Amino acid sequence: MTYATAARAAAAAASRVLDLLRRHPALVIGMPTGDTPVPMYRALVRAHRAGRADFSRATTFNLDEFAGLGRADAGSYRSYMEAHLFDHVNLRARSACVPDGRSADWRREVARYEQRIARAGGLDVIVLGLGRNGHIGFNEPADSLQARTHRVALQPTTRRANARLFGGQWQAVPTHGVSMGVGTILGARQVILLVTGAAKARMVARALTGPITTRVPASLLQAHPDVIVILDRAAAAHLAADLKVPRSQSRR
Ligand code: F6R
Repeated sequence: MTYATAARAAAAAASRVLDLLRRHPALVIGMPTGDTPVPMYRALVRAHRAGRADFSRATTFNLDEFAGLGRADAGSYRSYMEAHLFDHVNLRARSACVPDGRSADWRREVARYEQRIARAGGLDVIVLGLGRNGHIGFNEPADSLQARTHRVALQPTTRRANARLFGGQWQAVPTHGVSMGVGTILGARQVILLVTGAAKARMVARALTGPITTRVPASLLQAHPDVIVILDRAAAAHLAADLKVPRSQSRR
C-alpha cells in the first residue's frame, strides 16, 4: 500500500498494529527502531493516551541492539524504545524485551532471547524497516544469513546510518550488534514492512520484485505468506504501477 506522505504511511502501520492489539490483547509484537517508525510510535502513544490502546497484556520483542550497549547508554535501542514507546504506554516492564547488548555471554543471551520469544508463543506480528543496503533487523547482506538471534558485525553503511545516535560520529557506533535472525523474523505470523523516503526506493524495488537473495536480506520476505508492505510515494517510486495501487483499489 502506498500513501502520499511518510506520516500517513506510519499512521497506517500504527493502525494495523492497533487493530491487531484490539482483537488480540495479548499480542506479541516484533519492534523496529530507526527513523522510519518514530511517527508510528507517536501514533501508538497518542492512541494509548486517548484510551484506544491497551498494552497491559501485550509483549514486545525488539529486532536488535548494539553489542556492548544497554539501558544506561543513550545510543542503545533500549533507550530509543524507552523514549519512543515503553515510557509512555502501559506495557509491563518484563514484557518489553530488547536483546541485552551488555550481556557478558552473548551466546547465552541469543539463546535466551529465542527462548523468550518461543515461550511467548512466537511473534504474532513484526514491524520491519528496511536498511539502505537491504538489511532487515541487523541481518546484513552476505553470502549466507543466520536463522536465529545472533551476534553480527555491522557494515560501514549501517554504522553510518546510525551515527546520529552517537553525536554524528560513525566511528563511535558499535562494530557489532545482536539481531533476530531471518528465521525468527520469517516465523512471525504477519509482517508489516514500513519504508519511507526516496533514498530507499531502489532497494524497495529490489527487495520486493528482484530475485530472492541473501545479498538483499529483505528479499526473503517474498517467501512469507502474510506481508503487508506500507510505503510512502517516494519509497514506491521504482515499483511498477500495478504494485502501488492504494488499498481500496487493490486486489488484496
Ligand atoms: C532497527 C532495524 C533496522 C532499521 C533499518 C532502517 O531496529 O531493525 O533494520 O529498520 O536500518 O532504519 P531507518 O528507519 O533509520 O532508515
